[in-house]
Amino acid sequence: MKTAICYYSRHHGNTRKVLDAMAGEGGVDLIDVTAQQEIRLEEYDCIGFASGVYFGKFHDGVLSFARQYLPQGKPVFFACTYGGDKGTSTKVLLEIAKEKNCPVLGEFGCKGFDTFGPFKLVGGIAKGHPNTQDLERARSFYREIKERLH
Ligand SMILES: Cc1cc2nc3c(=O)[nH]c(=O)nc-3n(C[C@H](O)[C@H](O)[C@H](O)COP(=O)(O)O)c2cc1C
Repeated sequence: MKTAICYYSRHHGNTRKVLDAMAGEGGVDLIDVTAQQEIRLEEYDCIGFASGVYFGKFHDGVLSFARQYLPQGKPVFFACTYGGDKGTSTKVLLEIAKEKNCPVLGEFGCKGFDTFGPFKLVGGIAKGHPNTQDLERARSFYREIKERLH
């Protein structure tokens, strides 16, 4: 099975750490949505969209990437890291998936070290995350997706 995970990760590379753990399970291409490249998502069996949560949302770059490139009917999943709470951050992606008749296989989320704004003054929140347990959960989340699509 071939999976592409289209992502944005900048603050501390937290989301990228989670994706590296998933990619360690094999068959995953990580696509940075800010890099210039030729995009062909048709050739993948499954597409993930991943981002840190910024002001309650996935990064706009990931959302517009999904709008532009996600093929009709392709199974999708979402992954994010957040300092406090995932909230309703996947709402827009769920709407895009629905419009394109893409089955949603699941959502993964875990805390990610956050030094944004006032949190910097206290040395940040969610220190040490994603930690070993978060990364193990990420691996098993992706393994389950793979098994479901087998
Ligand atoms: C500009 C900015 C806005 C953020 N907004 C939120 C938020 O609304 N909710 C939250 O829980 N965390 C928020 N965070 C914390 C990030 O979601 C968290 O640190 C995440 O792991 C960053 O992912 P990255 O390192 O992959 O970019 C924010 C961080 C930044 C830099």
